[in-house]
Amino acid sequence: MPPIFPETVLRTDRLLLRPFTAADVEETRAACSDELTQQWLPLPRPYTTEDAAAWCTGVSHHLRTSGDGIHFAVADTDSGRLLGTVGLKKTDWPARVSEVGYWAAPWARGRGVMPEATRTVGAWLLGGQGFQRLQLFAATGNTASQRVAEKAGFQKEGVLRNAGYVHSGRVDLLVFSLVPDDLAGN
Ligand SMILES: CC(C)(COP(=O)(O)OP(=O)(O)OC[C@H]1O[C@@H](n2cnc3c(N)ncnc32)[C@H](O)[C@@H]1OP(=O)(O)O)[C@@H](O)C(=O)NCCC(=O)NCCS
Repeated sequence: MPPIFPETVLRTDRLLLRPFTAADVEETRAACSDELTQQWLPLPRPYTTEDAAAWCTGVSHHLRTSGDGIHFAVADTDSGRLLGTVGLKKTDWPARVSEVGYWAAPWARGRGVMPEATRTVGAWLLGGQGFQRLQLFAATGNTASQRVAEKAGFQKEGVLRNAGYVHSGRVDLLVFSLVPDDLAGN
């Protein structure tokens, strides 16, 4: 059995990062059906209520217990409303390297939610979990995602040609990383 991340809840002043539950199904369906989400993530199309239920109550949890990573629902601390998700995947335990991915719900965009959530997960991973590198891939055309990486403190490393895929075809990916030295002083 590979190692697994512990079931975890993280908090900032305005955000609660917690496991998905059945209560997140409708907002997840709406967010994953959104045009911008569908443009940059190769999610099922159409994204149905059944897809959302499978993610919220099964797949997102299985990906933690299988050792692949950990997926957080990002909710508004005050209202409890789902704002997005941030998750770790393709974790290389011997190398202490993982990869972060995210989407923000259309009703939550433009408020810096994902930079804050991504930074929070990065600090948790590179701090208490003892990891050495968190990598992030964004299509060269996805400027909003590149801004998330920059605002969360990641450094840009280069371009991986033809490395990604979205519904419209193959894309070049920019690779960013966050390492423990990037967090020094925070
Ligand atoms: C990328 C994404 C997660 C950004 O999350 P966010 O919480 O809105 O992040 P921010 O508020 O920091 O905004 C980041 C950028 O989004 C753009 N943006 C701002 N307001 C926006 C809005 N209302 N709608 C869409 N994009 C907006 C701006 O370019 C902004 O950069 P700036 O701060 O330099 O102006 C979100 O746009 C998203 O879910 N996109 C679709 C899924 C996706 O691309 N996932 C990542 C795949 S690698």
